[in-house]
Amino acid sequence: MNILQIQSSARADLSHSSALAAALVEGVRASLPDPAQARVTLRDLGRAPHPEQNEAALQALFTPAGQRTAEQAARVALDDALIAELQAADVVVIGVPMYNFGVPAALKNWIDAIARAGVTFRYTASGPEGLLKGKKVYFALTRGGLYRDTAADTQVPYLQTVFAFLGMTDLQFVYAEGLAMGPEAEQQALAAARVQIEEVLAA
Ligand SMILES: Cc1cc2nc3c(=O)[nH]c(=O)nc-3n(C[C@H](O)[C@H](O)[C@H](O)COP(=O)(O)O)c2cc1C
Repeated sequence: MNILQIQSSARADLSHSSALAAALVEGVRASLPDPAQARVTLRDLGRAPHPEQNEAALQALFTPAGQRTAEQAARVALDDALIAELQAADVVVIGVPMYNFGVPAALKNWIDAIARAGVTFRYTASGPEGLLKGKKVYFALTRGGLYRDTAADTQVPYLQTVFAFLGMTDLQFVYAEGLAMGPEAEQQALAAARVQIEEVLAA
């Protein structure tokens, strides 16, 4: 079993979303008949940010492979590596802080890299078809405030839409909210998230 662990917090050791994502990975691993068989790949977008899709990157992508300059080939290879990691994953675990009501730019750049026409989705006569099928995806969501199930939570509908578009519909969300609302609220939110992890792993 291949587990892809993605972190998108700008913070390293202090990140709650990364810690909860790591706990999800451990839970998935521990639930296997033989945990030693799990292969975990860590993609830390905070420590190693993926470049944005700017004009040069798009030009590189739309230049036929055999005609690319060395620089263009290297740029496309960066995206290819993320796509290959995702294609190889059976389970994907993503730590997602809320940054200004959206996902961190680091995660958006990853999504822009892995959503590639003809590779991870395609258009057919009956509409779009996601090509990343059969994967289970867990999200560890962390927020300073309280937004779950409100119109201000634009993260979850966005993630549901883009992952479903790519063929990934088996999604589970774990929330740690109110992390900026004082030490007690923070501790309660983190404890509640640990309970949710047990629940989603048992689902
Ligand atoms: C740049 C930035 C923007 C943020 N925007 C929001 C926000 O819009 N809503 C919210 O509830 N919390 C917001 N927060 C708080 C974070 O979501 C919270 O600190 C969370 O724990 C960060 O995840 P991490 O612990 O994995 O770093 C923001 C934090 C930062 C650093």
